Amino acid sequence: MCGIIGYIGKKKIVPLLLEGLKRLEYRGYDSAGIAVIDGKNLHIKRVQGKIKDLEENLLISPLDGSYGVGHTRWATHGRPTEENAHPHRDCTGTIVVVHNGIIENYLKLKNQLINEGHKFITETDTEVIAHLIEKYFKGKLEEALIEASNHLEGVYALGIISPKDPKKLIAAKYGPPMIIGIGEDEYFLSSDLAAILNHTRDVIFLEDKEIAIIQSEGVKFLNFDGKFVQKNSQKINWDPVMTEKGGFRHFMLKEIYEQPRALRETIFGRISLDTGKTYIDELNLNDEFLKNVSKIVIIACGTSWHAGLIGKYLIESISKIPAEVDYASEYRYKDLIWNKNFLGVAITQSGETADTIAAMREIKKLGGKIITICNVHGSMATREADGIIYTHAGPEIGVASTKAFTSQLVVLALLAIHLAWAKKNINKDYSISLLNELQRIPHKIEMILNKDKKIEQISQKYVFYNNFLYLGRWINYPVALEGALKLKEISYIHAEGYPAGEMKHGPIALIDTKMPTVAIATKDRVKDKVMNNISEVKTRGGEVIAIATEGDEEMKGKVDEIIHVPETSEIFTPFLNIIPLQLFAYNIAFKKGYDVDQPRNLAKSVTVE
Ligand code: M6R
Repeated sequence: MCGIIGYIGKKKIVPLLLEGLKRLEYRGYDSAGIAVIDGKNLHIKRVQGKIKDLEENLLISPLDGSYGVGHTRWATHGRPTEENAHPHRDCTGTIVVVHNGIIENYLKLKNQLINEGHKFITETDTEVIAHLIEKYFKGKLEEALIEASNHLEGVYALGIISPKDPKKLIAAKYGPPMIIGIGEDEYFLSSDLAAILNHTRDVIFLEDKEIAIIQSEGVKFLNFDGKFVQKNSQKINWDPVMTEKGGFRHFMLKEIYEQPRALRETIFGRISLDTGKTYIDELNLNDEFLKNVSKIVIIACGTSWHAGLIGKYLIESISKIPAEVDYASEYRYKDLIWNKNFLGVAITQSGETADTIAAMREIKKLGGKIITICNVHGSMATREADGIIYTHAGPEIGVASTKAFTSQLVVLALLAIHLAWAKKNINKDYSISLLNELQRIPHKIEMILNKDKKIEQISQKYVFYNNFLYLGRWINYPVALEGALKLKEISYIHAEGYPAGEMKHGPIALIDTKMPTVAIATKDRVKDKVMNNISEVKTRGGEVIAIATEGDEEMKGKVDEIIHVPETSEIFTPFLNIIPLQLFAYNIAFKKGYDVDQPRNLAKSVTVE
């Protein structure tokens, strides 16, 4: 949801900002801009469109300077036009602001400022920040920002420069992430590690209500009360190469293929095949608490919510603890009933999703314990939570989540086994058998990935259909939801995930020759029931693409296309069944010529409500 980059140092500023913006582009890509300062002169370039449009524009009319900021936008207030593109400025045109987040009271502030004589030129909420800083500016940007922050309601990560307070980059955070990168005689500010890892692995995460004053001699930190704060840097061990496409056409395809590695790394060091025990050091909850857990409350959004739905089946089946799953965006408005023996689990790839963070805070307000299953070190969710279980998927850049999803499933399986041990609800042999099978999953995913050509051929046949139904039952019902979401978000085809048994209660009326059904019918306790549902579709003239278990001959002649996956224990079938659905969605979107990594209207991290 908008990406921010800033730099002060000796490197050429414009190429550096553009490179950073390209890495941040997945956060938003409807318009972009940079501002650089050269001595006393400020230069700004903004365009509607993507970073490549900004880059082309800069080739025609180049800019230069010694420090500056850049922004790539996902529009919230104001259409995605050049005028509304960041950076924004005050009346004097010299106070420059890039912003990620939302200023909720911007209209009120805007009207007040207009009454005081300020002139606004954009439709954005961000512009009020520039004018407020102008109002309070007495020579130091950080002091004016502290004054301004007293009037701002909402969430914001900011990058600010001005030739009036030269050779200084200001970064601030209240809500969305802001990272300061420390290189040799150079400093960065960024919304995301991905934009700066090529230059430095030494970073400092700003906390809420903190400001960084970045100058070529060093960085100082203040809080919004104006007090200096001591902060230490940390080393990030992500390999910058992980944020490259590595020969793949798209990040999404690369990330689909990275799943065996991501899952192996997520399992590594956390299990013993001798004892059947799991080791989750970062959980930070003592055995006494775990022993008494009476309910698991899972909150998440989008794909992470689908992982949560599967997590419910895993936790209830393995640890015998009841679990409920809520959309974080709904949970925060419920009349919550909490008990000290409940455990909250917030699942979030980015650790930035505003709804998930808000729901976590609701649980904390009730004195509840909450852990997060998260992929991004140091993200907001990891700082809010009592305990963390990291997925070791590595940076996920494609807007459509793939490797983060399967890594979340692995963590949920580990958590289920861990809880089962704490509750003494599991025996050693069963636990060892589960862990053995979990360890085989990455290889079984490799076997599915080897069939990518067949999945590509099947996709070709279905490129021009406009509606799809995805059916699954029991633990594979959420896989149907996730398969449908993948198709929707990158190929703009209407797709609905449905529990197969509910078809006869209404949706079966939709079935005709123009509405293909993707049916998940791998070997498990409900396979025979799904077979019946498949024949109900076929009888009504619908086409069926089935996901079936290797060696299962029953499907032959009963469906139009079959994609086989290796056999696994029934509760792990979702870990494999989702892989062909990811490839199916990817191939359809690619064949339709869509921008797979940057689908329209979406952004990778949704840091607004
Ligand atoms: O970073 P999070 O896991 O909290 O993100 C949640 C959703 O926004 C995310 O899963 C979204 O649904 C993806 N685009 C799905 O592919």
